[in-house]
Amino acid sequence: MANLLVTGGAGFIGGNFVHYWNAQHPDDHVVVLDALTYAGNRSTLAGANRTELIEGDIRDQNLVEDLLRDHEISTIVHFAAESHVDRSITGPDAFIETNILGTNALLKAARAVWLSGDGVDHRFHHISTDEVFGSLGEEDPAFSETTPYAPNSPYSASKAASDHLVRAYHHTYGLDVTTSNCSNNYGPYQYPEKLIPLFLLNALSGKGLPIYGDGMNVRDWLHVEDHCRGIEACLAKGKPGETYNIGGGAELANMTVIDTICAEVDRAFEEVEDLADRYADAPAAQGRRSATLKTFVADRAGHDRRYAIDESKARTQIGYAPQRGFDEGLRQTLRWYLDREDWWRPLLRG
Ligand SMILES: NC(=O)c1ccc[n+]([C@@H]2O[C@H](COP(=O)([O-])OP(=O)(O)OC[C@H]3O[C@@H](n4cnc5c(N)ncnc54)[C@H](O)[C@@H]3O)[C@@H](O)[C@H]2O)c1
Repeated sequence: MANLLVTGGAGFIGGNFVHYWNAQHPDDHVVVLDALTYAGNRSTLAGANRTELIEGDIRDQNLVEDLLRDHEISTIVHFAAESHVDRSITGPDAFIETNILGTNALLKAARAVWLSGDGVDHRFHHISTDEVFGSLGEEDPAFSETTPYAPNSPYSASKAASDHLVRAYHHTYGLDVTTSNCSNNYGPYQYPEKLIPLFLLNALSGKGLPIYGDGMNVRDWLHVEDHCRGIEACLAKGKPGETYNIGGGAELANMTVIDTICAEVDRAFEEVEDLADRYADAPAAQGRRSATLKTFVADRAGHDRRYAIDESKARTQIGYAPQRGFDEGLRQTLRWYLDREDWWRPLLRG
């Protein structure tokens, strides 16, 4: 039995992680610390057992210290972040505040509580991104854990800074840390500003599907449940001070992802009887293909061309392997959004 502090647990990946952890470790107690920004949602945690949501900011070091002591926390899984690249381009300050200063405050709290006196057996696991490695050319080898950092957006620069702080707290103070750098996640509970849920919901409501540039930017797609498995493997078998790449084994051009979304939405309208009534504005409800909604828009500033993940270290050293194929994972995700209108509809109104 363990007590975990999960930061950002009301967000997309953190929320999935809480449900995953609940199912795999039903005796553990989970404390979620989340500031409930636009991206955090109480209803994401509905049904989670032995889970307590504390509304608060990771920059509040005193609050974090109190939580660590009061709940006898031995593991921090740190998801809380500003996470959307486009928002970092229009307003970088929040990214510096939460991703860098917030991570530093958490590390300071962990050091103060876990490393004082006789010390406490502990683990601080930091969630990072493949975006810290920069952009790959078509023929370049995939990112490994030793690829030099070259972040290109305010978002990835702030994540890179937080990764370095986590590393430094291990080397300087002896904090037991691990870091995972993962690729693009998709799955249930993702806020509809990111590509997959945004395009799914736009296709359902007959809105345009705005494609950046030529649509040929390449990402590796990771089902969020596979990501949770990877984090669990880092916690169980990761060595202090090490970093692990977690990928989904699905390197795809954005256009391929978008075409798959359109095909899956069209297929759902053929298979599910009441969809045409529920989403009368969808092209698929009117006998047209969802792909007719595709439209090209000016490219994102500084748009990285390609990310690819070499996850062989995680495979060989901690036994991680993705289990979800992209087509099956996307179909399941679409069906989840169709079933859980109660979750996403209020977000669109907000
Ligand atoms: N989504 C992806 O594809 C992806 C890929 C690679 C890495 N990551 C990383 O994974 C982590 C989780 O990403 P996500 O997509 O779930 O993000 P998200 O934006 O869905 O959720 C972030 C959560 O953090 C909370 N939060 C923000 N600022 C806070 C603060 N100051 N104090 C406390 N809570 C705060 C928000 O309320 C929200 O619940 C992030 O660290 C992100 O950088 C995400």
